[in-house]
Amino acid sequence: MRVLSGIQPSGRLHIGNYFGALRQHLALQEDNECLYFMASYHSLTTVQDGKLLRAYTTDVALDYLTFGLDPARTLMFCQQDVPEVTELAWVFSCVTPMGLLERAHSYKDKVAHGIMPNVGLFTYPVLMAADILIYRSDVVPVGMDQKQHIEITRDIATKFNNQFGGIFPLPDGYILEETAVVPGIDGRKMSKSYGNEVEMFLEPKALRKKIMSIVTDSSPVEAPKDPEGSIPFLYLKLLLPPEEIEYWRERYKAGGLGYGEVKQRLYEALEDYFGPYREKRRELARDTAYVEDVLREGARRARLLANETMELVREAIGLPISYKQP
Ligand code: ADP
Ligand code: TRP
Repeated sequence: MRVLSGIQPSGRLHIGNYFGALRQHLALQEDNECLYFMASYHSLTTVQDGKLLRAYTTDVALDYLTFGLDPARTLMFCQQDVPEVTELAWVFSCVTPMGLLERAHSYKDKVAHGIMPNVGLFTYPVLMAADILIYRSDVVPVGMDQKQHIEITRDIATKFNNQFGGIFPLPDGYILEETAVVPGIDGRKMSKSYGNEVEMFLEPKALRKKIMSIVTDSSPVEAPKDPEGSIPFLYLKLLLPPEEIEYWRERYKAGGLGYGEVKQRLYEALEDYFGPYREKRRELARDTAYVEDVLREGARRARLLANETMELVREAIGLPISYKQP
């Protein structure tokens, strides 16, 4: 199967990105043809500082390589290196009803959080549909927040296919229930745009500080507590083996457990999980030529696939480009 996903380079990646998306992306490499890219044009809807966008893009590429993206079998590239995707987005914008985008939760949530929307933020799902459909992808592994965007993609593909002929297969989302929504340290969905994230590669001191600042209730130590409503416990569930999760669940319910103790265990568990990768990432970061080679080759091969689709699209809509310079 062909698997595709994108991550916006709009900040350092956090453990929500890792457990909700990145980990699945890497597991799927074993048995599938995978394409993963940095959704730079999507980030441009919110990050409008060239230096930052460039740095975040390299950061995401390094994160993928650190966790074992294998360039021999998986394509990794930057969205802008396949410019045909923006061409297809325009074509799709002409078959997308306004109402479909007006119903998008992600857009409505961002506006509700006070982000001044630009047109790009509104048409964001159309570009995402182009990302997915230009490679005629079958499966799209993402976190829960992207579910509706995949439904919109299917709607756009159906509209196009009905109007111009069946070029696009309908892709399916791939969302793991246990990690569909990782909460942030304030209890809302963890997101780079809410500033409530636990980044994967914080240095120990900063990590400890972040963990200690997780919001917990003010019940006294003796009181029995509900583990499932407690953010540190929800993080421990992502990191510990089942027996130890059980142990902490019982300690919560029994009372006599202070949040300081849980947070200390959480800090250690995060260090154990991500700490060893920090060094590997540092080494990779020194080899910029290697990272660039991977991205260049990924883009070259992705573009070949995209161009095959675009030939069909241009023909179908009645715009074969006959006079273009080579
Ligand atoms: P952010 O909201 O932090 O900007 P992105 O939108 O770039 O993150 O998301 C990249 C991937 O990580 C997507 O597949 C998204 O669904 C997933 N993801 C982001 N935040 C979470 C979260 N809190 N829980 C689970 N998955 C998440
Ligand atoms: N919108 C996605 C997110 O914020 C990123 C993205 C852009 C994407 N294009 C994509 C994800 C195509 C999957 C497939 O997480």
